[in-house]
Amino acid sequence: MKKLTIAIDGPAGAGKSSVAKLVANKLHYLYIDTGAMYRAFTWEVLQRHVDIADPKSVQILADTIQIRLEIGREQCRVYVNQIDVTDAIRTSEVSSHVSAVAALAVVRQKLVQLQREMATSGGVILDGRDIGTVVLPDADVKIFLTASVHSRAMRRYLEVRERNERETLEHIEAAIASRDYMDSHRDISPLKQADDAILLDNSELNLEETAAALMKIIEARRQ
Ligand code: DC
Repeated sequence: MKKLTIAIDGPAGAGKSSVAKLVANKLHYLYIDTGAMYRAFTWEVLQRHVDIADPKSVQILADTIQIRLEIGREQCRVYVNQIDVTDAIRTSEVSSHVSAVAALAVVRQKLVQLQREMATSGGVILDGRDIGTVVLPDADVKIFLTASVHSRAMRRYLEVRERNERETLEHIEAAIASRDYMDSHRDISPLKQADDAILLDNSELNLEETAAALMKIIEARRQ
């Protein structure tokens, strides 16, 4: 059976990575978390105190940084210059800086090239913001996965509470709305549904239901 390339785009908190992981496992495909790559770059920017307003410094970092994803069945581990940053890239400090770093042309050039190389042999699911529009415009399946700001914030709130962290629902909702705005209004590769992508709103669906809806779309393309 043909090994497809599958692009899943959508805003933060729509559950792209959870559903992509689940579907990749079902299909024995590789799951490539492109958001993790932008987070890894941002982690290094913060570590090295790079001034992102200075194009030269960002260029030097882009030329020298090594970002590697080690893709396993259960988990995708992320390395920056051989350092395992899988957990470090999920802190709120990285989350609050990543949109600004991801808006830089040099950074996007570097990471888009890496993502295309990783996708060449097919049998891959990439999730992000610009996969169907820029990274893989010829992807076999393109999904735009979204949900209302309130339901995305509610999901994050429940995760945060489970980890015994304190954050109010209002604060999470405001952070998600602000990240949506920055990701969809930047000049380069803004978050946008590709013309030929299928829109899937999962505000009222749980993870299994979302995965089932996705599998149905993919199966139709595999015929
Ligand atoms: O999916 P995420 O929340 O881990 O993504 C982190 C940030 O990276 C998000 O603010 C948008 C950016 N991003 C991007 O610009 N392009 C991608 N393909 C993936 C993520």
